[in-house]
Amino acid sequence: MCGIIGYVGNEKANNILIDGLLALEYRGYDSAGIATLENGIISVMKDKGRVKNILDLDGFDDLESTYGIAHTRWATHGKPCKENSHPHCDNSKTFSVVHNGIIENYNELRNFLTDNGYTFYSETDTEVIPNLIHYYYNQNKNENLSVEDKILKATISATKDLKGSYAIEVISPLIPNTIIVARKDSPLVIGTKEGANHVASDIPALLRYTRDFYLLDDNEFAVITKDDIKFYNQNMENYKKDIKNIEWDAAAAEKNGFEDFMLKEIYEQPNSIRETIGSRLKLNEKCSFDSLNLSKEYLSTINKIYIVACGTAMHAGLVGKNIIEKLCNIPTIVDIASEFRYRDPIIDEKTLCIYVSQSGETADTIAALKLAKSKGAKTIAISNVIGSSITREADYTVYTHAGPEIAVASTKAYTSQVVLFAILGLYFAEILGSSDISTLENLKKDILDLPSKINELLEDTSLIKEFADKFYKEKDMFFLGRGVDYTVALEGSLKLKEISYIHSEAYASGELKHGPIALIEDGIAVISILTDEDLVKKSISNIQEVITRGAKTLVITNQNLDYNNFDYIINIPSTNPLISPILSVVPLQLLAYYISKDKGLDVDKPRNLAKSVTVE
Ligand code: G6P
Repeated sequence: MCGIIGYVGNEKANNILIDGLLALEYRGYDSAGIATLENGIISVMKDKGRVKNILDLDGFDDLESTYGIAHTRWATHGKPCKENSHPHCDNSKTFSVVHNGIIENYNELRNFLTDNGYTFYSETDTEVIPNLIHYYYNQNKNENLSVEDKILKATISATKDLKGSYAIEVISPLIPNTIIVARKDSPLVIGTKEGANHVASDIPALLRYTRDFYLLDDNEFAVITKDDIKFYNQNMENYKKDIKNIEWDAAAAEKNGFEDFMLKEIYEQPNSIRETIGSRLKLNEKCSFDSLNLSKEYLSTINKIYIVACGTAMHAGLVGKNIIEKLCNIPTIVDIASEFRYRDPIIDEKTLCIYVSQSGETADTIAALKLAKSKGAKTIAISNVIGSSITREADYTVYTHAGPEIAVASTKAYTSQVVLFAILGLYFAEILGSSDISTLENLKKDILDLPSKINELLEDTSLIKEFADKFYKEKDMFFLGRGVDYTVALEGSLKLKEISYIHSEAYASGELKHGPIALIEDGIAVISILTDEDLVKKSISNIQEVITRGAKTLVITNQNLDYNNFDYIINIPSTNPLISPILSVVPLQLLAYYISKDKGLDVDKPRNLAKSVTVE
C-alpha cells in the first residue's frame, strides 16, 4: 500500500527517486510523484498512473536538487488523480510530505485545520500532515531552538495527533538537504553508505545502493542528511541505532532475463526451497532453528495452535495445519487475520499462535499478533522480510529466506512457507515425541527431494500452456480437491483471480454437489488436484459428475489413473501427501501466469492489488 522513497547525497536526485519508485511500484501504481528543492523552492512533479509518466513531465530532466522525496500510490482516500497524488504540501509550501498508511482521524484534523484558516486541495488523508506540521511550526517559532529542531518538534507534535498508520518523509526549504522521517505501523528503512543516504518502504528497493540499513521502529524519528542520520524518540531525545547488514544481493531483486518477476519467482522455487531448508533439516538429526528454542515442558502444555494470516500466506497455513495435526497431534485452527482480530478468539497461555506474512507488514496480521500477545499466548512469526514489522512484534521469528518476492501474486513465498511449516511440524514432533522416528525421517527425505522434483516439473510446461491458450477467454473456472488438495485448489483459484481477472471458485470436491454444481455447464473448465492416494477414488467420482454435465477437465496428479476420460492430465512427481501442495501448486501458478499473458495483462502488477497491504 503505497511506496515511499527518499534520497540525499551528491548526485542529482530525480532519477534516483524514480528508480526507487519503480522498485516499489508493486506496492501501488495509481499515481506517483516526487518533490525536490529547486532554487530554494519546493518543486513537486506528480501525475496519475504509473511512475514512468513522471519522466515525461515538462522540466523533469532539468531538476537539479541532490535530495528529494517520492511516492507511488495505492489509492485509499480519494480517486487516483493528479490532485490526490503525493507529495502534498502545506498551504505556504514550507513543508512537503509523502505518506504511506492511513490517517483514521483525518476528517477531525481537517476540520480543526480548516477552522484555523487552512485550505485543502485534495481528498486525501495525507494533506493534513504538512499542514499540521506547519501549524505546530508556527506555534514553536519563537522557541530557542535551531530551525531543524523546530521542524523536528513540529513533526513530532503533528504525529502525536495522528490516529492510524504512517511512514512519512518531510522536506522543507528551511532545512535544505535534509529529510525528516517517522513511522508508526507502516514500514520505513534507511539505507546508508558513504556520502549518501536513502529511504524506502522496503529493503530490496535499495539493494543496488547499499546493504547497510537502519530499520526505523514505531514512534521513531530520523533527521537525515548525506553524511549523518540522527535518531529521536517522541520526547526528542537523540540516540544511536545499530546498522543491520542485509545479505540479499541486488541481482535477486532484478528480472535476470525473465519476462516477468512472477515467472522468475516460479522458476526460483527449487533454490528458494533450498534456502528455506538451510541447515534446519538434516537426515538423522533433529531439526533446529537458530531463533527458536521451545522446551518439551512448554510444548506439552499447548492444547491448541492458531495459524493466522491473509491471502496466500493463509493458504500456506492450511497446509501447515494438516502437517502439525498429523505429526504433533495438537488441534490447529487456521484463521483469516482480519476475522481473527475482531472476534475475540479463545486464547490463553496454552495457545501457540503462528503468524505468516511474506512481507511482514500486513496490517491485519500484525494486529492479530498483538491481540494474541495481549492474551498471554506465545507468538511465532513466519516472514520473508528481515526486520519487518511483524518480526519485531513476535516472541520468535522464523524466516523463509525465499529472497525478495517482487510480483504481487505470491509464488515462491508460498512454497517456502509450506516447507517451513513442514520443518516446524518436524521440530515440534521431535521435541514432543509425538510421531515415530521413521515417519519423521521419511518426511525429511521427501522435503530434501523437493527442489529436484520442482526442477523436473518445470522442465516441460507445454501442456499447461496449451490448456491456458485454449481457455484464457473463459469467464469462470472451478478448482476442486479433497483434503490437502483442497487447500491447493484454494491457492490455484486465488492466483487465477489475482492476475487473470477470471472469476473462479475453489471447492472441496465433496461439497460441490451441495450447490455449486448448479453452475457447471457445457464447456466450463474444471481443474482438479489428485495427490492423496486415499482420496483419489472419491475425487475421481466427483470429476465424473462434472464431466457428465459438460465440463472440460484438467487433472493435476501424481497417481496412476488407469482409466480416465479427462481432457488434460498433468503428471507431477510423487511425494509425501503432507507436502504435496509444494509440487501441485506449481502447475497452478503457471496456469494463472500463462492465462494472464494470453490476455495481455500486467502479470506482476495486477489491477487493484498491492503486494503489501498495510491498511485494514
Ligand atoms: C496481499 C497480496 C497477497 C498476499 C497477502 C498477504 O493481498 O496481494 O499476494 O498473499 O497480501 O501478504 P503477506 O505479505 O502478509 O504474506
